[in-house]
Amino acid sequence: MLVLLTGAAGMLGTALLAEFGRAGWVVEALTRRDLDIADRTAVLQVVAKIRPYVVVNAAAYTAVDGCEHQPVRAFRVNTLGPLNLGLACREQGIPLVHFSTDYVFDGRASTPYREDAPPRPINVYGKSKLAGERALLRVAGCPVIFRTSWLFGPGGRNFVDTTLRSLQQVGWMRVVTDQVGCPTYTRDLAMAVCRLIARGITAPLAGIYHLTNGGSCSWYQLAQAVALLAGYQAWQIIPTTSMELGRPALRPAFSVLANDRWRREGFPMLRNYRQALGAYLMGDKGICPQPQGGQGIEL
Ligand SMILES: NC(=O)c1ccc[n+]([C@@H]2O[C@H](COP(=O)([O-])OP(=O)(O)OC[C@H]3O[C@@H](n4cnc5c(N)ncnc54)[C@H](OP(=O)(O)O)[C@@H]3O)[C@@H](O)[C@H]2O)c1
Repeated sequence: MLVLLTGAAGMLGTALLAEFGRAGWVVEALTRRDLDIADRTAVLQVVAKIRPYVVVNAAAYTAVDGCEHQPVRAFRVNTLGPLNLGLACREQGIPLVHFSTDYVFDGRASTPYREDAPPRPINVYGKSKLAGERALLRVAGCPVIFRTSWLFGPGGRNFVDTTLRSLQQVGWMRVVTDQVGCPTYTRDLAMAVCRLIARGITAPLAGIYHLTNGGSCSWYQLAQAVALLAGYQAWQIIPTTSMELGRPALRPAFSVLANDRWRREGFPMLRNYRQALGAYLMGDKGICPQPQGGQGIEL
């Protein structure tokens, strides 16, 4: 099986590349330097030349605050990029797997968002990703779009690593209590993507899926879990609010995704985020979870 992977040097791209390798698939792994997905001519040429079994797009402009300052870049990469890939895949009759975000929702819900919940993004990143989804659904013959959230894993900037770095270097960290979501381990997501591709992407399987690790928490609770598992004290994570932190981009207060369609299609659900976090800390960071991590943290 030949897979064309774009955005291969990113955090999710790194996990997908590793997982496709474990599955024994041949991967044409392209970084931004190899292929700018916003360059339509280049995208059409590359897809036509490689003619893979499936295209998997892990490329995106993911700096949520950066998107507020650079909206043109956000829409170029996050909207035009998937549109170009969708056109190229339609031309070649190839399925396309793409990733989107919980930030397409406004966060006013109090129960998990299902795939058919009306999106209403409240920041530029979310708007550019939603426009990308819509462009793809319009042009591509057989697109699969995974909306996921709060990714952590090796090979990219992520909140778990930031927390560890702050604790090591500064000794404490201020974290918001008023944003709740589903942390997701890139390795678990990549394994799930492999499952879907292995089943064969046909028209009935196309469309939008919400896919995250199980459970949900606030960023504050996630930072506390990281701190305790890594042998720090709970007080080193200091609660704050989004208002106090005053970041450039608004974030949804509640962006928990119900993985309904994934379950309906008969795929196994991803494990709880706390187990995934333990696996990441142990397997990728070489941290042996501490016994005090047992205080309120089940692995
Ligand atoms: N991270 C999260 O918490 C999160 C949450 C929900 C959904 N997602 C979605 O999951 C997907 C993967 O995210 P990630 O966290 O792995 O992102 P990431 O680590 O930022 O990786 C994105 C990759 O895309 C590359 N890229 C940027 N512009 C490009 C372009 N024009 N052409 C080709 N490549 C380009 C980047 O290269 P440079 O670094 O050189 O710019 C980077 O290697 C994205 O669709 C994202 O929206 C992520």
